[in-house]
Amino acid sequence: MTSHALPSYLNPDDLGPWGQYLQQIDRVTPHLGSLSRWVETLKRPKRILTVDVPIERDDGSIAHFEGYRVQHNMSRGPGKGGVRFHQDVTLSEVMALSAWMTVKNAAVNVPYGGAKGGIRVDPKTLSRGELQRLTRRYTSEISLIIGPTKDIPAPDVNTNEQVMAWMMDSYAMIEGNLSTGVVTGKPISLGGSLGRREATGRGVFVVGREAAAKRGVAIAGARVAVQGFGNVGGVAATMFAEAGAKIVAVQDHTGTVVHPAGLDVALLHKHVAEAGGVKGFPGAEAFMDRDAFWDIESDILIPAALEQQITAENAPRIRTKIMLEGANGPTTPEADDILNDKDILIVPDVLANAGGVTVSYFEWVQDFSSFFWSEEEINARLTRIMQDAFGAVWDVAQDKKVSLRTATFILACTRVLQAREVRGLYP
Ligand SMILES: NC(=O)c1ccc[n+]([C@@H]2O[C@H](COP(=O)([O-])OP(=O)(O)OC[C@H]3O[C@@H](n4cnc5c(N)ncnc54)[C@H](O)[C@@H]3O)[C@@H](O)[C@H]2O)c1
Repeated sequence: MTSHALPSYLNPDDLGPWGQYLQQIDRVTPHLGSLSRWVETLKRPKRILTVDVPIERDDGSIAHFEGYRVQHNMSRGPGKGGVRFHQDVTLSEVMALSAWMTVKNAAVNVPYGGAKGGIRVDPKTLSRGELQRLTRRYTSEISLIIGPTKDIPAPDVNTNEQVMAWMMDSYAMIEGNLSTGVVTGKPISLGGSLGRREATGRGVFVVGREAAAKRGVAIAGARVAVQGFGNVGGVAATMFAEAGAKIVAVQDHTGTVVHPAGLDVALLHKHVAEAGGVKGFPGAEAFMDRDAFWDIESDILIPAALEQQITAENAPRIRTKIMLEGANGPTTPEADDILNDKDILIVPDVLANAGGVTVSYFEWVQDFSSFFWSEEEINARLTRIMQDAFGAVWDVAQDKKVSLRTATFILACTRVLQAREVRGLYP
């Protein structure tokens, strides 16, 4: 890896996901021409806010949690990116996720910079009241830097419409006006957008269809394996199943369920809603341990859980034709090289999962104009943006003879740095 000027607050021996992102920037830099003069700007988040989030627990004790909001780059517009509640959240992770948002927003050409937030907490250990207090206190702590024209949070792992409603309400109370545009992914009753909940999974499906056409893989009958059965993986699995694909394996945090003829995805959703995970699903032919998931042969593999799941250790075992990165950062750079050498077509996260932020953008536009669109209109516009972005990335990849990941970074980083260059440095 090229040596980087690292900030003192990161451990140089364990850079985590931020190190993964820096390596991706190294790969794109030779393709940026004269704009590479500005590339250092992509290697340093614009602004990092670390906050202490204290709450009173139901038993009367006081608990403190570590929270972050990172604004990576705002050259093209206000910050945009989700908020994650997870016990393993680190600053390095939030930094990387914010940077991938910069790249993603530019890749699909929505007028946003990149940001991300998180709290280091396992929300399953909190009551509903505690979760609400945590969310409200976090929102008040980061209200210094968020706002409808400054930085607009959205849901990510373990956050949902309810959490967004509490964030919006807290911000509105602090500001003294009804700022629906301060967050996206809100409930429909509160300025949310039709189609937002399904948008990321739908986008994964749309680029999957494009990639399959390029690779000569028919969706009907294709074997699809999915890691993560939440908002992204659950919706993507449903859409592939509806298009005639066989969902041969699903893994979540509780286990792995397998059926070579295809799992009944609707029944699996019901089971997960009742049991809290895929484990014990009566419609499975077999159950597997965590690691064996990577040995399952498929035509399309969709990692849609967490980052750094596919590594140099398990990548050699993967047998698939197309990989659609629903999760952010699921593949380490070493694993990326291994899969590329095996001629697996990888549609990278910064393109494949951009459907969510695209419909978040629609939600924000609808909130500003207080004029709401039909679901058909939203899905049609989403499909067009995802297809166009895939086509543009495909053309760059062919032209420069690079992977779809590097091609997406070329397109996106060029847009970000062009904006940086014409704006110039202040003061
Ligand atoms: N929700 C969005 O709109 C959106 C948009 C873009 C990217 N993403 C990314 O997609 C990924 C999933 O997000 P989500 O919103 O679907 O989250 P979610 O909380 O709805 O679902 C996460 C899923 O991953 C599973 N999981 C957790 N840990 C696991 C493990 N160790 N092994 C296997 N499975 C595990 C969970 O059981 C659950 O099924 C994340 O990387 C997120 O950043 C989400």
